[in-house]
Amino acid sequence: MKNKMWGGRFSKKTNPLVEDFTRSIQFDKKLAEYDCMGSIAHAKMLGKCNVVPKKDAAKIVAGLNSILSEIKKGSFRIDSSAEDIHTVLQNALDKKIGKSAGMLHTARSRNDQVSLSTRIYCKKEIDSIFALLKAFKDSIKNFAKKNIDVIVPGFTHLQNAQPVLLSHQMLAYCEMLERDIGRLNDCKKRLDVLPLGSCAISGTSLAINRDFVAKELGFSKVSSNSMDAVSDRDFVIEIISGLAILGMHLSRMSEDFIILNSQGFGILDIGDEFCTGSSMMPQKKNPDVLELVRGKCGVLYGSLMEVMVVMKGLPLTYNRDMQLDKEPLFKAVETIESSIKVLTALFKNLKVNKDRAAELLQDESIYATDIMEYLVKKGVSLKESHDIAGKIVAYAFQRKLKLSEISLRELRFFSSKFNKDAYRLLGAEESVSLKNSFGGTSPKQVRMQINR
Ligand code: ARG
Repeated sequence: MKNKMWGGRFSKKTNPLVEDFTRSIQFDKKLAEYDCMGSIAHAKMLGKCNVVPKKDAAKIVAGLNSILSEIKKGSFRIDSSAEDIHTVLQNALDKKIGKSAGMLHTARSRNDQVSLSTRIYCKKEIDSIFALLKAFKDSIKNFAKKNIDVIVPGFTHLQNAQPVLLSHQMLAYCEMLERDIGRLNDCKKRLDVLPLGSCAISGTSLAINRDFVAKELGFSKVSSNSMDAVSDRDFVIEIISGLAILGMHLSRMSEDFIILNSQGFGILDIGDEFCTGSSMMPQKKNPDVLELVRGKCGVLYGSLMEVMVVMKGLPLTYNRDMQLDKEPLFKAVETIESSIKVLTALFKNLKVNKDRAAELLQDESIYATDIMEYLVKKGVSLKESHDIAGKIVAYAFQRKLKLSEISLRELRFFSSKFNKDAYRLLGAEESVSLKNSFGGTSPKQVRMQINR
């Protein structure tokens, strides 16, 4: 490997095995644009503070700007035998402007440089994820609006619990996503700190201006301890953990859709274009996309574990182990972005089978809670009401009756509080509209949720 950023001290060539083993260019090339932006701001500052002569600084900035536009155009050639992206960019600048390029790395180390580039990457990707999540939430909200009248059995323990509006369930996912956004936003605020100027470990004796660089790059703060700044990777752990929780939500949502789309339920119909077939069973239409979103949650947890374990027990400050943060970080970001994109598209094609939903509500024992609350409203204690409603359900079950087939005389045998109006409880519309407590599943509450 030619043109290392170090070497003066060495009398022997690096063993090729070591070069291969330590190289990170195959993945950190993703940081090219951000590394270049960081260098431009740094060079401007060096010139402004007269740490390097102004005309050299200007040459460096011009050279880097031309490299940056090549990177953006996709025409920048990356030497895959180089050690890392910092080396590649330094070599490219050397080639472009000659001697002045040697001044760029003044008052800087790759230790603060790599943290800077990774932070810029994280800030940008968090914004991209926000945009994707906004589109996703919009598609969920539209679905909820369009299907506001659909009532389905809600489950606890995957057993029929109580009727709910399907829209209510959909908006539950929006709430989770809202918290995910909050978590990523917190993470973004915390990582919005400029590490550059910490240099290798202790800062520098040169008269630099860190605030200037922070302003140029849009960072709201500069780091206040150089040792912490070059050894901190909790921002990487934090963003991946935010993505892992988000991925867990997408996975649960996928699992719900897989269940509701299965023959046993058949409430949801995923469009053909989002399913795949079987090579053997011609009748199959499988929800592979949802299964992969569910499965890829494992990739996210794995990425989180990778960085947590790499960081555990590292002495201060920079250690080469920390180079291993980038692959899991990139993998987690790419995994979540592709999952959100495909789910958003899938949502737009999702159809509801209302008749099937109504069929699944035939079992009237799903109204047992409503019967219980009817009695509570008539002054019966919760404990006694619970007992009575349970006995009525058991009675109907033993006699193979629907609850609506039990006569008022029989009902009064369980409690004298029953009147004719109790039969009104045995309908899904009535049941959901009764749940009008704030955040409940009544159409009124759900419409309020949509508006919120
Ligand atoms: N490729 C390295 C990384 O990602 C850059 C920093 C190298 N610094 C060093 N002192 N060897 O961490």
